[in-house]
Amino acid sequence: MNVVCIGSGYVGSVTAAAFAALGHKTTVIDIDQKKVDTLLAKKSPIYEPGLDNLIAEYMGQTLFATTDYEPVRQAEVVFICVGTPSNADGSADLTYIKKAAENIAQHLDPKRFTVIVNKSTVPVGTADLVSSIVEQVSGLRQESHFAVVSNPEFLREGYAVEDVFYPDRIVIGTNNEQARYTIKMLYHNLLQRNHYEAISKLFPFPEKTDAPKATYFETDTKSAEMIKYASNAFLAVKISYINEVARLCETLGANVLDVAKGIGMDSRIGEKFLQVSSGWSGSCFPKDTAEILTTSQKYGSELLVVKAAVESNQKMHLYVVEKIQRRLKTLNGKNIGVLGLTFKPNTDDARKTQASIIIQQLIELGAHVSVHDPQGMEMFRALNPDVPVRYCESPLQAAELADAVVLLTHWEDYLSLNWALMQTKMRSPYILDTRNFLPKDFLIDIGFSYEGLGIDANAFRREPIELAR
Ligand code: UDX
Repeated sequence: MNVVCIGSGYVGSVTAAAFAALGHKTTVIDIDQKKVDTLLAKKSPIYEPGLDNLIAEYMGQTLFATTDYEPVRQAEVVFICVGTPSNADGSADLTYIKKAAENIAQHLDPKRFTVIVNKSTVPVGTADLVSSIVEQVSGLRQESHFAVVSNPEFLREGYAVEDVFYPDRIVIGTNNEQARYTIKMLYHNLLQRNHYEAISKLFPFPEKTDAPKATYFETDTKSAEMIKYASNAFLAVKISYINEVARLCETLGANVLDVAKGIGMDSRIGEKFLQVSSGWSGSCFPKDTAEILTTSQKYGSELLVVKAAVESNQKMHLYVVEKIQRRLKTLNGKNIGVLGLTFKPNTDDARKTQASIIIQQLIELGAHVSVHDPQGMEMFRALNPDVPVRYCESPLQAAELADAVVLLTHWEDYLSLNWALMQTKMRSPYILDTRNFLPKDFLIDIGFSYEGLGIDANAFRREPIELAR
């Protein structure tokens, strides 16, 4: 089929690369010439494992990129994959969506039926909004000339290639029969896993032949739009809950790792998203919880549980600072090394991460902060130009003369650090592992004073782990 993806950000570039790999002629349209040039040079405009491979393979074959909206004229399906940042009150800013709708409208072929798909995370009712903009600008009629469908994305950053080819579910919201048929055709190869043998050679993970096939779920547009927000808010609630349980475990002397394991064994709860952290962050959860909360308040149907999860999450960020402060007593003049600036591993995304909140607070209390991240330093620096931290080339450098090292992001690289050497470089070898990720018994054995979250590190010793020093 002939597909267009408007936007070459996290969602657009992954979606476009996937449809191109599945055999559809797919054109990415982005107003940013630099991003288009990057794509044309067969490179990914974002850091996402496996995406470079796909773009290199299909660019110029089935994948194309341009700043020009002309390809919309031939497209059977046009995906809107532009950003929806937050307004000051938490609601979604639809400026880019509206602009994309206007541009699409100016390039629709009146002789053909075009399906416009909202892939961006957009508030309930946005499909109707896009329809009315397209009608007004183009003079064409929805239902007879075009239809707007909601098809929310559920991609996790860092695993987006895996998620796009092996989704749990594909949610399609439409009230239009022709659109329903077109989109089902579009997803046919993905649902049947056609071409996977060839494509999987480009995956950054082994082909998942045993993974259950995706559920294809059709509903109306508003329900599809709601599914996206309700899913992300639910996941945020789940994490906030386990983080609160972790704080209580710490107070009462229980071990949150075993508690999470024990509750996750109940299939009604499930084991996923019960990993303790310094709080959730990133470009989706804060934005999506804020939007659904603001909407629920505006419409007099406040989501109290989501509100509590947001508050609890903010408390979790500050709890990390409190914990360091409790250990070091005063932070004035203390050196703190921070490992991890991205909201999770395998991404360079440092937008709205807990790191910025925690670091800001440490600095306000008088600490000198040195930071390291394998991928996220450039973006963090660009987004936080006024935050006076020392950017370090290695974790070792961040730990030099440190009174504390705090691990915020569980990058696998950090498992194989030369911890023994790091210990000797620090002024006092205290480490706070906010992900309960590092080999704590090993670290304790080599002389670190180790703390996790929700555990008493010394009370729950396990067999020593052999790690390269
Ligand atoms: C999320 C959704 O998972 C995805 O379906 C949606 O399309 C976009 O938003 P993403 O933001 O990429 O994806 O990251 P995710 O892996 O969900 O993690 C979000 C945050 O929660 C991260 O900060 C992560 O470290 C944290 N987290 C996750 C925890 O603290 N504990 C967990 O158990 C899981």
